[in-house]
Amino acid sequence: MEKKFARTLVTTALPYANGPVHIGHLAGVYVPADIYTRYLRMKGEDVIMIGGSDEHGVPITLKARAEGVSPQDIVDRYHNIIKKSFEQLGISFDIYSRTTSKIHSKTASDFFRNLYDKGEFIEKTSMQYYDEEAGQFLADRYIVGTCPHCGYDHAYGDQCEKCGTSLSANDLIEPHSAITGSKPVKKETKHWYLPLDKWEPTLRKWILEGHKEWKPNVYGQCKSWLDLGLQPRAVSRDLDWGVPVPVEGAEGKVLYVWFDAPIGYISNTKELLPDRWEEYWKRDDTRIINFIGKDNIVFHCIVFPAMLMAEGSYQLPENVPANEFLNLEGDKISTSRNWAVWLHEYLEEFPGKQDVLRYVLTANAPETKDNDFTWRDFQARNNNELVAIFGNFVNRSIVLTHKYFEGRVPERGELTDYDRQTLEEFKDVKETLGSNIEHFRFRDALRDAMNLARIGNKYLADTEPWKLAKTDMSRVATILNMALQITANLAIAFEPFLPFSAEKLRKMINMPEADWNKLGSIDILATGSAIEKPELLFEKIEDSVIDAQMQKLERIKQENIIKNFRPEPVAQAVPIDDFGKLDIRVGKVLDCQKVPKADKLLQFKIDDGLGGRTIVSGIAKYYAPEDLIGKEVCFIANLEPRKLKGIISQGMILSAEDAGGRLVVIGPHGEVKPGCQVK
Ligand code: MF3
Ligand code: ZN
Repeated sequence: MEKKFARTLVTTALPYANGPVHIGHLAGVYVPADIYTRYLRMKGEDVIMIGGSDEHGVPITLKARAEGVSPQDIVDRYHNIIKKSFEQLGISFDIYSRTTSKIHSKTASDFFRNLYDKGEFIEKTSMQYYDEEAGQFLADRYIVGTCPHCGYDHAYGDQCEKCGTSLSANDLIEPHSAITGSKPVKKETKHWYLPLDKWEPTLRKWILEGHKEWKPNVYGQCKSWLDLGLQPRAVSRDLDWGVPVPVEGAEGKVLYVWFDAPIGYISNTKELLPDRWEEYWKRDDTRIINFIGKDNIVFHCIVFPAMLMAEGSYQLPENVPANEFLNLEGDKISTSRNWAVWLHEYLEEFPGKQDVLRYVLTANAPETKDNDFTWRDFQARNNNELVAIFGNFVNRSIVLTHKYFEGRVPERGELTDYDRQTLEEFKDVKETLGSNIEHFRFRDALRDAMNLARIGNKYLADTEPWKLAKTDMSRVATILNMALQITANLAIAFEPFLPFSAEKLRKMINMPEADWNKLGSIDILATGSAIEKPELLFEKIEDSVIDAQMQKLERIKQENIIKNFRPEPVAQAVPIDDFGKLDIRVGKVLDCQKVPKADKLLQFKIDDGLGGRTIVSGIAKYYAPEDLIGKEVCFIANLEPRKLKGIISQGMILSAEDAGGRLVVIGPHGEVKPGCQVK
């Protein structure tokens, strides 16, 4: 038996305010949470959706330092971008606040103090890196050194970004401070630890026995953490950005960002409902659902619950439907590498197409495994599904209603067997679709909604009302009544997923409200009620639009390669005589052409001062043939001739290879006659 709940508290992971949000955040957390919440609201349930920015933590301080501004400047900037872009995408938070709010510092501080007073923390001193020049302790991110695994000389104390290994600052070879560059010393410091080991048996029972229904990826990750055995975790840091530790003698120490951030869910509920927030957190008939990405599982399923258990008066989450990751065109999304589709940019570049993104991210959501977002798939789903199935059906129904019935819902006569069979196909959609949403299977739920449009299209194609119009208008009336009722079903079913299009559709068919209870029925629109002129719900996306996005990504890839370029180490020394064996000359390009059926090769006619020669070179990707005619180049004149695509190449034109493999031809910087030797 599934439990009945009186109210639902939906929380969404608080994104770090050190960058805008991207499609990975959306697909993982905000779009599914919004679908879930909109669905419950439509059913008339008591539900609130909580969001906000996570504004503490070391990366924000590093970014501020790099830009020469204050951390507050950074979080103000990104909080505003994030908040506005969520609004524009229709993510229907009841509150979107932030962890630098007063109410949050007080809530987090009181929470800590309460556990402290109850003796729920262990105090421990340890040796930490300290920058004597800056006069401060160094968080792992503040320490840079050589990676012991791959030798990369700019690895951070928590991770090497080159080889991906997670590190601890002690692993780094030749560590130095990212603030002053000086060599840090070890110094003793005191911190407070939450003894997770104490809560391990309770956590085990709660999750491993009590929540076998959690998604396998979530349950599995919890089980492996628990099986490894839990250790006490530090909940404070030596840092000057965050909620100060409310204990005497803790100057210069703040709450660890992962201690204060989840308390943000509580503070934001308080801010939203100052008098009623406790109902949502403390009554056992409240259902708390935490929407997060997979990198947040341990904090939401182990650490935060242990904090709540230690406090004692709060409810634990009923479910934590974490998603896996969304990749972009085959590569991991990364803020630092700018490898992402940023929401605020999408909204600018695709005005009015919020629902297309919502649709694609749901249809392809990483619910059970990592998935890939590609622009081609985005285009295909828009053109072949939204336009060709959903939009097309709605448009045909409405156009035909105007053509034959002056834009009024015609009267339905007796249903035929075929009509009844069609109705049979969707009359249970409320239960199936609803159950899929309630069990966090949003892709399936979306498919259920789309299936309604498929059924509608098939119905019109099979009944062919346009052929009956001359002979049997009463049958046409029945068919179009059915088609319009299916259209009304679509406006209800799609409301949680595509709220902008659903609203537009509701206006077209004059349906003031989307009543979930009517889903699956053919008595939604009253006979005689007016249907507005059709407007397109979706429009085709052309290849050129997609090509432009692909080019943008290609440019980012190139920029990254150039940014990360480090010259190869110099090769082993050779005696000068070895150099003398090569006969390098200056030549002038007389002619240059593409080699047929070879996309890399150019064929050159070179004036070498000795009667001319032919050289074939693999630089067609980087030069148009006419760019090089008349230019001076350097070439190896005594290379043994080689046959390339049937052409004998007498030598090799010299190029420099830039970061990313781009070849740039090299030549003399002054006037030199063809045939001169390079020495
Ligand atoms: N800022 C974290 C992240 O982006 C998520 C914080 S969720 C909360 O990974 F529980 F702390 F709120
Ligand atoms: Zn490395």
